[in-house]
Amino acid sequence: MANRIQAIRGMNDVLPAEDPLWTTLACTAAQVFGMYGYQRIRLPIMERTGLFERAVGEVTDIVEKEMYTFEDRGGDSLSLRPEGTAGTVRAAIEHGLLHNSTPRLWYSGPMFRYERPQKGRYRQFHQFGIEAFGQTGPDVDIEQIAIAARLFRELGITGLTLQINTLGTPAERAAWREALHAYFSAHFEALDEDSRQRLERNPLRILDSKNPAMAGLLAEAPTLRNHLGEESAAHFSQLRAGLEALEIPYEINTRLVRGLDYYTRTVFEWITADLGAQDAVCSGGRYDGLVAQLGGRDTPATGFALGVERLIALMQAQQVPLLAVGPQVYLIHAGDHAPQQVPALAEALRDGVPGLRLQVNAGGGSFKAQFKRADRSGAALALVFGDDEAAAGVMQIKPMAGQGKQEQVELTRLSQRVAALLDGAPAGACTQHG
Ligand code: HAM
Repeated sequence: MANRIQAIRGMNDVLPAEDPLWTTLACTAAQVFGMYGYQRIRLPIMERTGLFERAVGEVTDIVEKEMYTFEDRGGDSLSLRPEGTAGTVRAAIEHGLLHNSTPRLWYSGPMFRYERPQKGRYRQFHQFGIEAFGQTGPDVDIEQIAIAARLFRELGITGLTLQINTLGTPAERAAWREALHAYFSAHFEALDEDSRQRLERNPLRILDSKNPAMAGLLAEAPTLRNHLGEESAAHFSQLRAGLEALEIPYEINTRLVRGLDYYTRTVFEWITADLGAQDAVCSGGRYDGLVAQLGGRDTPATGFALGVERLIALMQAQQVPLLAVGPQVYLIHAGDHAPQQVPALAEALRDGVPGLRLQVNAGGGSFKAQFKRADRSGAALALVFGDDEAAAGVMQIKPMAGQGKQEQVELTRLSQRVAALLDGAPAGACTQHG
C-alpha cells in the first residue's frame, strides 16, 4: 500500500463533529461585533513580507523565527499572515477607508506561525479580530474590552481574567527601555540565555520570560510608571475608571508587554487558568503609530484578536450550549413509485419552511436501515414516504426522540405541520440555539 500523506504538523482538520462549536463561535462573534457597528473586511492570507517586518517589528519572535516566508515565482518575498492587524491597516490605507472616516472593522480566518506546537498552540490557528480607527480616547479601548466581555457572556464562557497595562508613547517607552537595559545589564549574570540575547535588541521582551529562575529579578525590574507622561497616565486612569463603571473586573499586569511592536498605551489580555501554558484567549491594545508607520496619515487605532482554538477548547471544557447545525428532519423513502416524487417534495418543503435543514436519504436501503441513519443524523423528525403514502398523497411524521406520536398529514399541509412540530419556523444555524 502506498504511504499515506498526513496533515502538516501543527495544522488541524476540523471535523464535522466539532462544527457546532465553530459555528456557534462564528455566529455569536459576527452578531456581537455587529451590535457595536463593526463591519467585516476580508483580507488575503498572504502579504508582502515587508509589511509584517514593518508592522509587527523586525526584532520580534514572530518575524525573526515564526513566519512562513517564501519567494513566489516572480521573485517577490511573501509571507503567510501571522496576524490580522497589519493586513487590515494596509487595506484601510490602500482603499482610502481612513479618509474622513473612522471605520470599525472585523475579520476572521487562519493565521500562520512556525511555533512549537502544543496544546493551544498551533502553526495554523484562527482568529477573530476587530480594529477601530481614528479615535484617540480611551472610550474605544473600554468599549472593545466590553465587546470581548459580551462575547464571552453570550457564549456562556466563564472564569476569564482581564489583565491590562499601559505601554505609554514611543518616547516614554524608550526611556523605560533604557532603564530596563541598565537594570538588566547590572544583573547580566542572572539572565538566562534567551534574555541575554534580548538585552541589546529588545530588553522589554525580557519581561515576557516565563523562566521561574528569573521571577525574582523580573519582579524588581523598573516599571514604566516613572516614565509615563501626563496624557498617557490620564488615558490609563480613564481606562480603569471606564472598566469599573461597566463592572468589568481587571488586574494590572505591569509585565504585560505583548509580542508585537506596534502597541502604544493600552494593552490587554483575557487569560484562563483552564488551558495550561497557552493561557491568553484574547489579546490586543492600542497602536496609534502604525497607520503612519505604514505610509498612511497619522491615525490612532485600537483592536484585539481572539484565539479561536483556545476559545473552542474552553467552550468544550465548560460545555456551553451550542447552535444546532445538523439536519432537523430526515426524509426516508422507498417503493416503486414514491422515490421519484421525493426531490420535488423535498424542495417544496424547504421552500415552505425557511431555513429548514432537511436531509433526504440517499442510496436506498430498507425502512429499518434508513431509520438507523435518521437516528444517527440527530434529526428531530423522520418523514416516511412509501408507495402507500404516495398513492394517498400523505406523509408519515415520526418524532425521533422523546415523546410524540407518529402522525399522518396531507402533503398540502406538510410544511405547516413540520414548522409547528419544530416549534415555530426553524431559522438558519446562525440565529437559533438548540
Ligand atoms: P496575538 O496576541 O499575537 O495578537 O494573538 C491574539 C490571540 O491569538 C492570542 O491571544 C491567542 O489566543 C491566539 N494565538 C496566537 N498565537 C497562537 C497559536 N500559535 N496557536 C493558537 N492560538 C494562537 C495579535 O495577533 C494582534 N494582531 C491582536 C491585535 C489586534 N492587536 C490589535 N489589534
